[in-house]
Amino acid sequence: MQTGDNAPMPQRIGVPKEVFPGEKRVATVPDAVTKLVKLGFAVVVEQGAGELADLSDAAYIEAGAAIAPNAAALWSGSDIVFKVRAPTPDEVALMHEGQTLIGFLWPAQNPDLMQQLVAKKITALSIDALPRTLSRAQKMDALTSMAGVSGYRAVVEAANAFGRFFNGQITAAGKVPPAKVFIAGAGVAGLAAIGAAASLGAIVRANDTRAEVADQVVSLGGEFVKVDYEEEGSGGGGYAKVMSEGFQAAQREMYAQQAKECDIIITTALIPGKPAPKLITAAMVQSMKPGSVIVDMAAEQGGNCELTEPGKAVVKHGVTIVGYTDLASRMARQSSTLYGTNLYRLTEELCKTKDGVINVNMEDDAIRGLTVVKNGEITWPAPPLAAAPKPAPKPATAPAAKKGHGHGEPSGPMPAGKLLIVAAVTAVLFAVVGAYAPAEFLSHFTVFVLACFVGYMVVWNVKPALHTPLMSVTNAISSIIAIGALVQISPIATAADRPNTLIIVLASAALVLTAINMFGGFAVTQRMLAMFRK
Ligand code: NAI
Repeated sequence: MQTGDNAPMPQRIGVPKEVFPGEKRVATVPDAVTKLVKLGFAVVVEQGAGELADLSDAAYIEAGAAIAPNAAALWSGSDIVFKVRAPTPDEVALMHEGQTLIGFLWPAQNPDLMQQLVAKKITALSIDALPRTLSRAQKMDALTSMAGVSGYRAVVEAANAFGRFFNGQITAAGKVPPAKVFIAGAGVAGLAAIGAAASLGAIVRANDTRAEVADQVVSLGGEFVKVDYEEEGSGGGGYAKVMSEGFQAAQREMYAQQAKECDIIITTALIPGKPAPKLITAAMVQSMKPGSVIVDMAAEQGGNCELTEPGKAVVKHGVTIVGYTDLASRMARQSSTLYGTNLYRLTEELCKTKDGVINVNMEDDAIRGLTVVKNGEITWPAPPLAAAPKPAPKPATAPAAKKGHGHGEPSGPMPAGKLLIVAAVTAVLFAVVGAYAPAEFLSHFTVFVLACFVGYMVVWNVKPALHTPLMSVTNAISSIIAIGALVQISPIATAADRPNTLIIVLASAALVLTAINMFGGFAVTQRMLAMFRK
């Protein structure tokens, strides 16, 4: 689109009200609208689009959006359309050639939709097809943000259906043991569930076929329960693979044990492109204590539990089995905010010129990955990403002082010849200073050189991430000057050299202030280090 003087005309981003039954999310929020407008776009939102996510039309207008009275007006007047769910056939009918659609389109699961988009000659970006392992893509990773919300909500649903506290309590009315929660699958959603359940005070255990997640489980306050069978579960790209029969048998045995012991099971196990693995059998459900709860987050892909009914909460053998498929939508405002931010970040990548016009650049790995239809032609699946070049092997004799010193600049070890010259020049300089400088200066100079050496060794051997707590502890230690104040007001001083009252008052004030610096410094350091330990 061009204006008369050849300046590109800003494009219009349209955000319709979601039409999927029960869907409460909306594809943008007022905060994101403000930023999109700053990028040069015009934004139009369908009347009532954010209502179910507690976002009023007035808030969108205040942020700079216009309101379209209905879906037809919205779709026909938009160059780019932001959606949450894939469009229905009725919505596709409203599209026009040259339009760009962005949303969860799931191209593998929706071949008919792909053909309809091709027929409409549009460009479609499927946010679920984003190459998530690109670190640059993380800010646009809506799968991760939605899985995080869903994992949290799964714990809330479990707590709602469970008739007891999560944390252990000792009250006058008796002792309550903490609830035991078992999480099957510790991907994004599983880890969010572990964090939420642990923060409520439950004992949390988790299992995953990918051994590398064990540390993450522990760091969130859970315990990783291993299957007693050696087999690596990574299937590439951070995802799982289908495990061998032997592994599955050993895993079933362990899960059967956990089902007997735990009060709540939350299952999140998925394998891309395959039905969800059946991990919880009917017999395991039967073995659980009455009043226990299972939340099956894989319900939409067939469920991890044999007795799950997708979309419903049912009670079987005294166990409540929650199979809701709309967990993210149940926290509509939170998920819309995260999703709106993901789409804004994607728009930023699409419009580097900040002139309100997008460029679907197929040379860019992230954009290429999620473009499933380009100008009416199917471009899905994207070719696999080129493997990242392997870092050059480190020299076997890296100097110890370099450890943990990660300031990015390529600074290899100094060649031996150069080192010798530096050492010789330094020695000559010291000899000259020693020969000619006054004795008083020499003692100060020695302390100064030693201080430089100790400072260098301390700072350069500490990881950069720990430099802030290091600064605060050094600050606390530097309060040694308190000794000066103590000497001033010392009662040991003889009557002749006892300082006058003013000096005592000033020294006492200095002592109080230094004490604050000292104890405060240590306290702050402890708190900072505690953050690193989490
Ligand atoms: P997902 O939703 O496909 O799977 C959920 C979890 O189920 C995975 O951890 C998987 O290993 C596990 N699982 C599959 N079969 C299982 C079985 N039979 N028993 C037990 N557990 C089983 O995966 P999600 O959560 O979308 O992502 C998985 C991982 O991908 C993340 O944890 C992360 O490591 C990686 N990832 C990396 C990103 C990056 O590098 N920027 C971004 C997003 C994800």
